[in-house]
Amino acid sequence: MSGSVRLDRLLANMGYGSRNEVQQLARIGAVMLDGAPVRDASQKIAITADLPTRLTVQGEALDPLAGLALMLHKPLGVTCSHKEAGPLVYNLLPDRWRRREPALSTVGRLDKETSGLLLLTDDGALLHRIISPKLHVTKHYVATLARPLKGDEAALFAAGTLMLEGETKPLAPAVMETLSPTSARVIVTEGRYHQVRRMFAATGNHVDALHRERIGALTLPADLAAGEYRQLSPADIAAIFA
Ligand code: URA
Repeated sequence: MSGSVRLDRLLANMGYGSRNEVQQLARIGAVMLDGAPVRDASQKIAITADLPTRLTVQGEALDPLAGLALMLHKPLGVTCSHKEAGPLVYNLLPDRWRRREPALSTVGRLDKETSGLLLLTDDGALLHRIISPKLHVTKHYVATLARPLKGDEAALFAAGTLMLEGETKPLAPAVMETLSPTSARVIVTEGRYHQVRRMFAATGNHVDALHRERIGALTLPADLAAGEYRQLSPADIAAIFA
């Protein structure tokens, strides 16, 4: 985003309300630029990188203009969708982030019954870099299994020949580390539908619980409880591609 834009349009696109609501906020002095109220929201303001430090809405610093990127500790039982029935990951975020244009999207999906590190962004280029199979960004899962491992799973996953049911292209090689007789860490570079569950199904096992602990070198922080989120720092984004 660059140039200048009407303040009411900018704030409406960032989810602060309709243009009318934003105008009303401005009229009552709730929108401040450089410490002074901007009472006419139809005025144009220059888009500068430091705007979030200069503009406040109802006493709070402006959200990032574009390129909002978050990590969420996805709890069990919520769906990565904008519109399906039941609890959605977007309901865990502030209302105004759900109204942003361009919209926030999850970077790939985790199943409703998978927990762990989920990224969200409104930055389409960033999203595509993370999910592009060409860039081989690793996704690290811990799977808890219904039955003991047989011992040949790691070799099967590493072979690059495993064909999942209903597919025509084999999976790229994946790494499996045994953690206990009935749990394993699996590191994949693709994001196929129900991939880890289907990989174990192909070995005659069943995944009882699945948790994503890491993407690239970005690990879910231990102090980020299920349901909590945090904005990604530039160092976090670099870690994804490290
Ligand atoms: N693999 C799965 O089976 N489910 C997920 O949610 C992620 C990877």
